[in-house]
Amino acid sequence: MSQANRIAVIPGDGIGPEVVAVAIRCLDLLRQQNDLDISWTELPWPSHAWHERHGESMPADALEQLQGFDAILLGALGDPGPRDNPERYLLPDSVSLAPLLQMRKGFDQWVCERPARLLPGARQYLADPRAKDVDMLVIRENSEGEYVGQGGRLRQGSADEVATQMEVFTRRGTERIIRYGFEQARLRAIERANRDEVRTFQTLTGETHASQVCLITKRNALRYWGDMYSEVFAEVAQHYPDVATHHELVDAACMKFVQCPWAFDVVVASNLQGDILTDLAAVLSGGMGVAPSCNLNPDNPDMPSMFEPTHGSAPDIAGQQRADPTAMLFTTARMLTWLGRTDAALAQAGQQLFEAVAADLAHAPETARGTNTIGEAICQRLNNKG
Ligand code: IPM
Ligand code: MN
Repeated sequence: MSQANRIAVIPGDGIGPEVVAVAIRCLDLLRQQNDLDISWTELPWPSHAWHERHGESMPADALEQLQGFDAILLGALGDPGPRDNPERYLLPDSVSLAPLLQMRKGFDQWVCERPARLLPGARQYLADPRAKDVDMLVIRENSEGEYVGQGGRLRQGSADEVATQMEVFTRRGTERIIRYGFEQARLRAIERANRDEVRTFQTLTGETHASQVCLITKRNALRYWGDMYSEVFAEVAQHYPDVATHHELVDAACMKFVQCPWAFDVVVASNLQGDILTDLAAVLSGGMGVAPSCNLNPDNPDMPSMFEPTHGSAPDIAGQQRADPTAMLFTTARMLTWLGRTDAALAQAGQQLFEAVAADLAHAPETARGTNTIGEAICQRLNNKG
């Protein structure tokens, strides 16, 4: 086996192991069919189970171990469930979810890409028929902002307690995420043209363009970073005269995501505002069961990117074969496309997996299916094509 494309697989907690098992079945099948140059190693950490045995969520050298891989595929971290078992080994969220943030930060995964596209067969929550055309890419800044974890508590527990939570925004961090947004907008316009799909976006001066970037801030109240984001956005936009620009305040954006979500193309948001907006965007695309996500380091090949669905460990349905593996599989497809930047067979396999999962969604029976049953149906589709 060559050294290329080594994947660290982290099943994690709750429904994580169930949906990851399906992803591995699909990966195994695709590898056999296409002779793919990938290998994977399943890691028992981070997880509650590991913490229960070792007193920590993951080994002290976890990041060093992970750095030897080309990508990380993660199921979910959090409450392991089942929720009706009061005896279960439980950790505070700030402990069990900390490894997620450590990986994002440690590997400088500064882009969090969360596409929200309502595919045929997915549940349409909004009554307006135009909501079937939702197709946006939310790009969440993933390395700084509200998530820097700086601050503290003074005089803890006393009536005079003071808590501070810092937000840190750098010009460098701002510029790279905004530039990434414009690049994605361009790519999406090309992809749409390739499938003869037309979308148009108007600028304030009335010109129409084939793609758009909408910047989200709360600059009417949080003016320092809001103003810096707006200035950098205007500067970067000059290099992309083919892309329409737009700005929304985050509260208004929440309203418009519900009122007219089809009007958005690429959306760039800060770490926290992007976190909140992408739960809403996930629902617009059919719910948490279908919403993929990835944490990317686009410029340092020595740092692995991490692929995890937007959903969490879903302790209410964990261990019952009730989790929808669709989000995990779309996420796995995105991982293959990502690794496929330098390997056409992997890119092709990513597309194949995406299409099989989308076809399953489009033709799913009315009756509820279990996690493995959905996995089997998708493997069947992969087999018929292969
Ligand atoms: C997400 C999650 C995480 C986040 C939590 C679990 C720390 O909500 O990936 O969206 O806030 O980033
Ligand atoms: Mn979230």
